[in-house]
Amino acid sequence: MVKPDGVQRGLVGEVISRIERRGLKITAIRMNTISYEMAKKHYAEHAQKPFFKSLIDFITSGPSVSMVVEGKNAVSVMRAINGATNPVNAATGTIRGDLALDTGRNVVHASDSPESADREIGIHFKDLEISEYSRIDETCIYE
Ligand code: RTP
Ligand code: MG
Repeated sequence: MVKPDGVQRGLVGEVISRIERRGLKITAIRMNTISYEMAKKHYAEHAQKPFFKSLIDFITSGPSVSMVVEGKNAVSVMRAINGATNPVNAATGTIRGDLALDTGRNVVHASDSPESADREIGIHFKDLEISEYSRIDETCIYE
């Protein structure tokens, strides 16, 4: 996801570009302002955390961009592209390390396991909204 701060800062293209250039395949994409209910489901694992309310308030505060991203080791590669949760600790070259300063405004979200990805995709997309296709450059990306 490109969170509302990323959309407001005009970083949607920057984020998508990094995903595409790495070789990962975007199979679904949508901009919308997610509902309070959807946000609470999405971040259910953090329900007991002190930052939960501010996280839900922020993630529902304006449009965000949800994506399904596929490819070899997509979960770990996508988290490496995003960088550490607190941008202060995020390596230069990552989205958060290059473009953010504050944990609560860290531009992007990515699922933390294939199981989380399955669960979160089910919250954001219907099956029919996910495109099955091959990228024509896959023989150059994969051995
Ligand atoms: P995300 O879920 O958004 O991809 O981020 P993440 O896995 O790197 O971090 P996670 O621990 O899942 O936290 C989710 C989001 O909650 C906000 N947060 N605030 N104030 C705090 O201590 C704190 N900790 C986390 C961040 O926006 C984080 O991305
Ligand atoms: Mg997380």
